[in-house]
Amino acid sequence: MFQQAQIPVITEVFPLAQNPNRVRLFSKREDLLHPIISGNKWRKLKYNLLAAREAGETTLLTFGGAYSNHIHAVAGAAKEYGFKSIGIIRGEEHLPLNPTLAEAVKMGMEIHYLDRSTYRLKHTGAVIRKLQKQFGKFYLIPEGGTNALAIKGAAEIVRGIENDYDYFCLACGTGGTATGVITGLAGKGQVLGFSVLKGDFHAGEIKSWLQKQQQGQLSNWQVNTSYHFGGYAKFDWRLIKFINDFKRAQQIQLDPVYTGKLFYGVCEHIKQGFFPEQARVLAIHTGGLQGIKGFNQRFNNLIIT
Ligand SMILES: Cc1ncc(COP(=O)(O)O)c(C=O)c1O
Repeated sequence: MFQQAQIPVITEVFPLAQNPNRVRLFSKREDLLHPIISGNKWRKLKYNLLAAREAGETTLLTFGGAYSNHIHAVAGAAKEYGFKSIGIIRGEEHLPLNPTLAEAVKMGMEIHYLDRSTYRLKHTGAVIRKLQKQFGKFYLIPEGGTNALAIKGAAEIVRGIENDYDYFCLACGTGGTATGVITGLAGKGQVLGFSVLKGDFHAGEIKSWLQKQQQGQLSNWQVNTSYHFGGYAKFDWRLIKFINDFKRAQQIQLDPVYTGKLFYGVCEHIKQGFFPEQARVLAIHTGGLQGIKGFNQRFNNLIIT
């Protein structure tokens, strides 16, 4: 189980036009880990699936929005490793299904919907008991996949490369992947998270996850909150132009929700001289490319693929 993933490659991104401190930028292509369970999803699911298998569970149940990378990845993982999967989707059904949900269903996921106010209470005992009554026994994976086992898996993103870079940059949704990277580095380098949501709650979330892992002493990290482009899944023409220019110049596909914002923020930091002279900066490509189909369908093929 979880043996056949490719080793993700690290490539150097071409020298950027404005790079006053001659920083060297690299990308760890976690998006190449697996065609469906890509990027941080593979890392976050690995130990959860092993735990589910060990506990004799046969059904995975999880939550997500209608375009969720996590929903798509759980559907793919369940199919590949022989679990039944149930996806509880926020809001009402919209037909025809968007590409994310259509592919999830095609991979065998059973889709159900929760109205937004119940969805907000999805991790409470009352809602879980109701779901158990409805679906029977299941292994619960939280929305976004973040739990202690996900953090353990995410720590492996930096295994063996802890000493190779001065900065490790990644997009933050729940902050679980960043927490894993911080624990994996065990104090080496600097972790720079880029929040893809509006608000400054990430630092608190990461801190509390680190404390739960008895790693509260680690302080070599920070979260930048300036590149969310208005909030989760929000964008403007600057972001779209950046993603398309980056694809043309570097032949690396970025998505508009996570990695586009990450690389935009990292390149702005380079331009502005944030990183010291000749720093080695690693931007972790956490996947999420499945979402482009649905985005392009809604927004008139803005993203070049
Ligand atoms: C492609 C991608 N990158 C980054 C993230 C952020 O990960 P985390 O929620 O662990 O912060 C997510 C999902 O949440 C994602 O789908």
